[in-house]
Amino acid sequence: MMQILAGLLVLPLWATTLSHHVSNSDLELGKKIYLKHCKVCHGISGDGQSFAANALNPPPKNFTAPESKKELTLKRMLDSATNGRPGTAMMPWQDNLSAEEIRAVVSYIRKELMGIDF
Ligand code: HEC
Repeated sequence: MMQILAGLLVLPLWATTLSHHVSNSDLELGKKIYLKHCKVCHGISGDGQSFAANALNPPPKNFTAPESKKELTLKRMLDSATNGRPGTAMMPWQDNLSAEEIRAVVSYIRKELMGIDF
């Protein structure tokens, strides 16, 4: 009996994880963060065309390129945004943004700029 109950409680959580559900409020938060912190290098549409990009080597990732969609898994993007990319201008954001905020901005980039449907 207890096992069945525990199973019923775990199932909804499990289903949420699998579908990577992103709510509209997450996307709105993600957009705000993107415009405030990421746009300056990655460009408003995420194509890496920004004033700052002229001075950066390597250049900011073009999120909209077909290779990026293949290369950049959700896990990799969360990791890069959290810990940065050593030796590049991509800084770690873990001191400025919470894990939820990082998840929200990565979700925004994936859904709205890369066109990946979760
Ligand atoms: C100062 C410029 C700058 C800012 C600001 C910036 N980035 Fe970046 N970003 C870069 C550069 C440069 C790269 C390319 C790094 C590389 O080639 O390894 C990059 C790469 C990335 C990548 C791909 C990393 C990978 O695994 O290849 C992600 C994801 C990313 N940025 C997310 C963000 C997010 C989210 C923000 C805002 C919270 C942000 N960036 C703000 C410069 C910036």
